Amino acid sequence: MRHLLSTLDLSRDDAIRILDVAEEMAAVGTREIKKLPALRGRTVVNLFFEDSTRTRISFEAAAKRLSADVINFAAKGSSVSKGESLKDTAQTLEAMGADAVVIRHPSSGAPARLASTDWISSAVVNAGDGTHEHPTQALLDAFTLRRHWARLHGGPSLGGDLAGLRIVIVGDVLHSRVARSNLWLLRTLGAEVTLVAPPTLLPVGAAAWPCAISYDLDDALAQGPDAVMMLRVQGERMNASFFPSTREYSRRWGLDDARLAALDERGFADTVIMHPGPMNRGLEISSGAADSARSTVLEQVSNGVSVRMAVLYLLLSGEQHRGPAN
Ligand code: CP
Repeated sequence: MRHLLSTLDLSRDDAIRILDVAEEMAAVGTREIKKLPALRGRTVVNLFFEDSTRTRISFEAAAKRLSADVINFAAKGSSVSKGESLKDTAQTLEAMGADAVVIRHPSSGAPARLASTDWISSAVVNAGDGTHEHPTQALLDAFTLRRHWARLHGGPSLGGDLAGLRIVIVGDVLHSRVARSNLWLLRTLGAEVTLVAPPTLLPVGAAAWPCAISYDLDDALAQGPDAVMMLRVQGERMNASFFPSTREYSRRWGLDDARLAALDERGFADTVIMHPGPMNRGLEISSGAADSARSTVLEQVSNGVSVRMAVLYLLLSGEQHRGPAN
């Protein structure tokens, strides 16, 4: 693996290798094993053209736990505001010694552009590009699901995929890079996926995707899925006349306390509730659901560090990151 741009590029074996290495990395950062020397002398640049809390900080924590040096770059306050291009920005940072560039960008395809040119020779990791992909979010979600499944069934989490799990992804699919990366990865790992969304928040072409599509959240929940993955409503990408209204959205597609109670009443004790964050409490998810015993929201955040350690380790340990793309 030379870059991580899309979960579509990952074979089942690639994905399981990342999840297995993440499982080993989960022991790092504890009192017993504070950090590993694996990436000593390497430099990771966090190149963020969009805001982030979880992704940027967890990449920083991941790099530091592997003893790499970290340079954090935020477009706000940088020479990007003076018109500096992506190419010049990336080359400037590489000239300061970057071995890996973790990039978040509002334009879909910006990380692929960086990786496919000879602008820089660093490994490129997509930390979220426009409405396209967010591969490390999908990997940490798969890691969380795999651990949950192993806990439920008493088996080891190493080596396993998600075959047979039924995952419902709910909400603003149209604008969600998380939904796309998750769909591709979940299918690669053998899970069945149902997308539930208002018709206006499904992309044209979604009917051809390898999943079921529903407009009815109550119907999808009544099937007793293994996980319900709620998506953030991306209000910043909509205008005031967008349908549905927030009230309509919350009533029909929000995971509220009544729907949470219905899972209990139907005896679906093992259904977990996921959200990539940041959450719009009271819109796509109620506080009751977000903070319930079913919620894996904070576990997802913790797992993000282990998964990002695995990605950086696999990209940067050894010399393969300096070779041709594979
Ligand atoms: N899930 C996620 O990407 O969160 P941030 O925007 O805070 O990084």
